[in-house]
Amino acid sequence: MAWLAALYPLCRPRPAAQRWLVTAGATLLSTYALDAVATAAGLALAAAQILQGLEPGLVLAFLAGTYLVWGAGLRVNLQANWALLEATGTSTNLLSKAAYDVVKRRTANRRTWRIAAAAAYGGTELAKETPYYAGALGAALVTDAVSASDALIFLGGANLGAAAYEYGLGRAVRGLLERRRTPAYASFEADWRPQAYLADYYRTVEADERQTIAFFVDAMKQCAPGEPILLFGVGPTLHHVFLAAGAASELHLADYLPANLQEIERWLARDADAHDWRPFVRYTLQCENRARPSEAAVAEREALTRARITRLLEVDIRRSDPLGGRGRAAYGTVISAYCVDSATAERAAWRTYMRRLAELVRPGGMLVVAALRRSRGYVVGGRTFPSADIDEHDLQAVLAPFFEPQDLTIAVGELGPSAAKGYASIVLARACRRRGAITP
Ligand SMILES: C[S@@+](CC[C@H](N)C(=O)[O-])C[C@H]1O[C@@H](n2cnc3c(N)ncnc32)[C@H](O)[C@@H]1O
Repeated sequence: MAWLAALYPLCRPRPAAQRWLVTAGATLLSTYALDAVATAAGLALAAAQILQGLEPGLVLAFLAGTYLVWGAGLRVNLQANWALLEATGTSTNLLSKAAYDVVKRRTANRRTWRIAAAAAYGGTELAKETPYYAGALGAALVTDAVSASDALIFLGGANLGAAAYEYGLGRAVRGLLERRRTPAYASFEADWRPQAYLADYYRTVEADERQTIAFFVDAMKQCAPGEPILLFGVGPTLHHVFLAAGAASELHLADYLPANLQEIERWLARDADAHDWRPFVRYTLQCENRARPSEAAVAEREALTRARITRLLEVDIRRSDPLGGRGRAAYGTVISAYCVDSATAERAAWRTYMRRLAELVRPGGMLVVAALRRSRGYVVGGRTFPSADIDEHDLQAVLAPFFEPQDLTIAVGELGPSAAKGYASIVLARACRRRGAITP
């Protein structure tokens, strides 16, 4: 099974261009392997002569039956291909990946993505039948040594071989995906160090935060003022809190880890060792159109923020009630940056968590989100924490049922060539929640 080793590159995280290359390689390999297995099975069945002498009607019925078996094998492979596309963006069929990528760009409906990927895959596999028909029936026509019955038996055998191949490929892809699901991610409970996070990411205002804060400041222009604002998954940070202070009646800061909230308490208490957020306050004020904010203006925003923070909440997005009964469940504005995409490496779980986040926003209210784009993990203190490997299309698809399409703004921020921390781009979204019934 040496060719199985060639499937490993499919399941490794990699940039977009490489996903195409790997998919092209897997398609080529798979085409040759299918051809070899199907031809060998067809020849073996014809040579075995077990079906020779059957009535023509029975031979045709046998051939029809082999199509059913082939369809069953293909079904297993199509399901595995969908899981592979969703998890890694690669496929064992180039056209299937192309169809998936194109349709994903055009619609937020995942069912349509799946149908397009399956139709392209199934269509290719059907087209591969043509040479077999041409070869078998051509041989029956040009030589007396091959009867029409021999040709049909060969085709039936080839179908059975193809069925076994599709089934085997599907199982192999599933197996590889299972193995990939348990990478050695660091755990928030055991390995997260708030100080290391602040040191690694928040010494200066880096490119990702320049874009995030500018986008969030812009989003806040649409915020209904005078209500409590929830910052979900705030970590040990305050850089997204300053931009919300002016509009909020109260600021509720929520995170999973008590150690993160303690770091915020230190800042609230003006502890000498608390992190210095002034560069971020200054940048926030600049984004709000103050060209050169004075030190007094920075201090004033810090004071306003301290005054507005009224609650620190321990939350868990993995719970069906993330706030655990504490705090309001229907905020006019919810801001969540780099949290939900970091709470899991699994896209299916990420979708569930995003729906829970969306449900914290009251009808007519606003959700503002930032996520790492197409990242499998980011590094803090030398340890890799999970990331759900999502992009703008995934975000659009998960938010669309909850939010008004005309009020859903999604932007991609490219961060340049360096991806040393595990990501090279981010995705940002602002959305206004629907007032009517929701059909996720
Ligand atoms: C990358 S940090 C983002 C922190 C901050 N929002 C920022 O922009 O720097 C990810 C945060 O997600 C939080 N988190 C991880 N699992 C969570 C869960 N199950 N529920 C809620 N928050 C979680 C972590 O505690 C951590 O603070």
